[in-house]
Amino acid sequence: MTSKKAALRPRIRRATPDDSTPWPLLLAADGPRAEIRKYLSRGELWLAEAAGRAVGQMVLLETRIGTWEIMNIAVSDELRGQGVGTALLRKAKALAVERGAHLLEVGTGNSSLRELAFYQRFGFRIAGVDRDFFVRRAAGGRLQKQDGIVLRDMVRLRIELAD
Ligand SMILES: CC(C)(COP(=O)(O)OP(=O)(O)OC[C@H]1O[C@@H](n2cnc3c(N)ncnc32)[C@H](O)[C@@H]1OP(=O)(O)O)[C@@H](O)C(=O)NCCC(=O)NCCS
Repeated sequence: MTSKKAALRPRIRRATPDDSTPWPLLLAADGPRAEIRKYLSRGELWLAEAAGRAVGQMVLLETRIGTWEIMNIAVSDELRGQGVGTALLRKAKALAVERGAHLLEVGTGNSSLRELAFYQRFGFRIAGVDRDFFVRRAAGGRLQKQDGIVLRDMVRLRIELAD
């Protein structure tokens, strides 16, 4: 028998300069740190809080006029599967609409099967594949594997927002 965990209702707010950077969460979704720093300095960091602590985060960036991208999204390991990630996606979409964007985008690895389900369940559709994106990023270094699948390609997903 499977039991579904009760949904958490996080409070989502934009980080201020007083908040410490949630590195463990940022690194759970992406790496290396230098790459994260690049988009963190240009983008917006949003925190999901529950019981007074940050349990999730996302980084949003306007990559082109009218296009916002979720550059990074993660939820604390022990609290995954309770709706916090979906609440962050809902917030990202609402913010993009509020700002008059026509596209909300996200990218994930070809081996991230649960993440591919997570985004598509929310309404994202695959828009393209950046072949060998992670091979180039590894620059001859070791390639990662998830579920026995080599992480090579970036799957680009998007939601077209109504005008
Ligand atoms: C992907 C992630 C942000 C989703 O957040 P969440 O709070 O677990 O998401 P929700 O509870 O709203 O939705 C659950 C769905 O997320 C997906 N998911 C992906 N990784 C998961 C994980 N480790 N645990 C639970 N759900 C996960 C599944 O599709 C799951 O649905 P299921 O329970 O039917 O399998 C979160 O799991 C996470 O932080 N993963 C590690 C970081 C990461 O990979 N970020 C995305 C990079 S592209």
